[in-house]
Amino acid sequence: MTTPDSSLPLDVDQIGKSYRQGRASVRALKNVSLSVEAGEFVAIMGASGSGKSTLLHAIAGLIDVDEGRVVIAGQDLAQFGDAALTRFRRRQLGIVFQAYNLIPTLSAEDNIRLPATASAGLDREVDAMLDRLGMTDRRQHKPAALSGGEQQRVAIARALICNPAILLADEPTGSLDSVSGTHLCQLLRAMVDEQGRSIVMVTHEPHVAMWADRVVVLKDGENLAEFATDGRRDPQSLGNRYHQSLDAGCER
Ligand SMILES: Nc1ncnc2c1ncn2[C@@H]1O[C@H](COP(=O)(O)OP(=O)(O)OP(=O)(O)O)[C@@H](O)[C@H]1O
Ligand SMILES: [Mg+2]
Repeated sequence: MTTPDSSLPLDVDQIGKSYRQGRASVRALKNVSLSVEAGEFVAIMGASGSGKSTLLHAIAGLIDVDEGRVVIAGQDLAQFGDAALTRFRRRQLGIVFQAYNLIPTLSAEDNIRLPATASAGLDREVDAMLDRLGMTDRRQHKPAALSGGEQQRVAIARALICNPAILLADEPTGSLDSVSGTHLCQLLRAMVDEQGRSIVMVTHEPHVAMWADRVVVLKDGENLAEFATDGRRDPQSLGNRYHQSLDAGCER
């Protein structure tokens, strides 16, 4: 194991994770490493079951890893107890889950306010966020009365409301129409370019991944390949490179 680089916002070093299922065990991650710089946007791609969500949950400290280290802003997550980890996560990370994880009894607006320890004084930010995501007229609705895409936008607003240094997003455009999806990608890109934040985003879609600086491909829980997008925003060539890396992986 190498010494973690404390100047990086995120340094994942050779992590492994197995899930127990009865007597069997599934190795969801094997020796996975990922470093992300400040002002860098990384897309994670890979087939269903390749370990993308598990990697994001490990980075967020929501699951313990069996091997390796997750270091955020120079801090090894393994050093924290539960309460300290929750505080650290709130300060450093915004998380958009694949399944949204909204609180069913709270309105859209109150879900967005949830991560803020003191919600007083947040009114302007909440208003601006609802406006940016086209959700102003749905602010009083509870999740059950929102469409999938609207719930996804609430989840995104909740992740961004505390201005996290690192945003972790699991298929954040999965339920959005293509116009809303592009709009969100532009918002994420601006967070990186204008505010120097770091983003790790899981996606299956080349036209979403193309907004990232770098694509990291996982296969069967392992790092398979990675390549730079060079700011080309070309979904076709990105899709080709992704499929080439999967094909090359099959021949290994
Ligand atoms: N809580 C769990 N218990 C047991 N096995 C799990 C659990 N979570 C994930 N797995 C298994 O770990 C592997 C990786 O799952 P993961 O959810 O990380 O995949 P993914 O790449 O995010 O897939 P998808 O694209 O379908 O969301 C899969 O084989 C999955 O069945
Ligand atoms: Mg997943």
